[in-house]
Amino acid sequence: MDIDLLVLGSGVAGLSAAVRAAVAEPGLRVGVLTKAELAQSATRWAQGGVAAVLGGDEDSTDLHLADTLAAGAGLCDVDAVRVLVDEGPGRVNELIALGAVFDRDHKGALQLAREGGHSVARVVHAGGAATGAEIERALVDAVRETAAAVLERWFALDLLVEGGRCRGVAALDEHGRHREVRATHVLLATGGAGQLYSVTTNPLEATGDGLAMALRAGVAVADVEFMQFHPTALHHPAMPRPLLSEALRGHGALLRDADGERFVDELRPRDQVSRAMTERLLEQGVEHLWLDATGLERFDERFPTIAASVRKVGLDPTTDWLPVAPAAHYLSGGVLTDLHGATALPGLWACGEVACTGVHGANRLASNSLLEGMVFGPRVVEAVLAGVDGPSATGALRDVLGGEVLGGTAAPALSLGPLVGEMAPARTGWADQSGSGELEKTRSVLQHAMTEGAGVLRSASSLAETAAVLDRLGDVSGDPELANLHVVARALVLAATARQESRGCHGRTDFPEPRPALAHRLVIG
Ligand code: SIN
Repeated sequence: MDIDLLVLGSGVAGLSAAVRAAVAEPGLRVGVLTKAELAQSATRWAQGGVAAVLGGDEDSTDLHLADTLAAGAGLCDVDAVRVLVDEGPGRVNELIALGAVFDRDHKGALQLAREGGHSVARVVHAGGAATGAEIERALVDAVRETAAAVLERWFALDLLVEGGRCRGVAALDEHGRHREVRATHVLLATGGAGQLYSVTTNPLEATGDGLAMALRAGVAVADVEFMQFHPTALHHPAMPRPLLSEALRGHGALLRDADGERFVDELRPRDQVSRAMTERLLEQGVEHLWLDATGLERFDERFPTIAASVRKVGLDPTTDWLPVAPAAHYLSGGVLTDLHGATALPGLWACGEVACTGVHGANRLASNSLLEGMVFGPRVVEAVLAGVDGPSATGALRDVLGGEVLGGTAAPALSLGPLVGEMAPARTGWADQSGSGELEKTRSVLQHAMTEGAGVLRSASSLAETAAVLDRLGDVSGDPELANLHVVARALVLAATARQESRGCHGRTDFPEPRPALAHRLVIG
């Protein structure tokens, strides 16, 4: 197979890149490899919309930039955020031109909603809270028409690194046979790692695969301690946890504790809301708090997806308070990239949740993630077409390539030890592993250890206990997803242990305040 650009993953970031390639240079041979079906990605689950300055007199890209920097708690890369807010509106309009339908008012203007951390209403939605599904639909249709190869149910095991360059991936095909897919450029767009935790809003596929591949190949990653927990996941055994979108709080829904009292400003950035909720859960010794959306008008009409999911479990959002608790939602860090999406390894690019472009810092602003995929995926394609062929000391990648960096000094690199540089062990039949009882038990042990010790609130001792569980987990090589979760869990715990402060989504009970000396990224690899 002769591929110019191999995209790994089929969420908004990867598919936006593939579509951009088809529009900009139809001669570029693009392959999309995904472990499930094309439409089956975390993007599909995204309720929250796309934050972009698309109207509204009181809004501006400077304000969007300021809100993003404030949410990121001192660790955003300002240049990357500038790219995000300036290029975002154009990308949303391109998506509309491609056929994505966003919610409009009776005059036909885009409806703008407010969410936590945003100082004005600037978030567009589709189908109330089914934005990701609508975006994915529009992109999947376009990619099916244009891509040179679509490899569904293939599993990328590891990067092929030869002569200091990424040359493709080792993979298992849909029948579990070992294959090599060679490409001039490889784009990691594999999404996040919510499956590290026993309580998450992420689908089963979110197992940190791209991040693990990068870590095994020794490619620099950063900010992985900043797992964002969404404050209002429905407290219910269903997994992934049904999400009660931030848009509900944007429209006036209230958080109440076990006594029915309000205890936090619902529109603070979500790291602060999740932390306040976790503290209240511990103080009151309860498993959930309440979201009171009973004051919202036309609930079913405005939020049909959410209404359906809560009614399915016997709750009426117009009369019942809804039980909620924080759930792992979004990894703010990832594989370090420059402003074009290039990683530290020539030939390897990254975009979307797997990447650390620097736009999220220590805590992603609500509804900036679909936008990030829509902006940075196409930037990779533009750089490839312009002949860029390696990383530059720009954006978050400055932290390893030199130049002026956050906090004034180059971030010290952490090491994951013998893992780095090793290729994943040979594995077969990945799709057949899901039913294996032993491996499922091991996955559950890992997830519970992460939830217990590396959740919203952590400490040196809780992290040490989690690290000890990870060390004695046993052989995980029979299931490549579990092996990937193990690598990423170790990286997260390593960085969370080293970050002896509280900042953004990283709350340390033993170091409750931010420390200026740690206002820089922690890089692994
Ligand atoms: C939500 O609607 O609350 C989720 C949006 C997001 O994660 O940005």
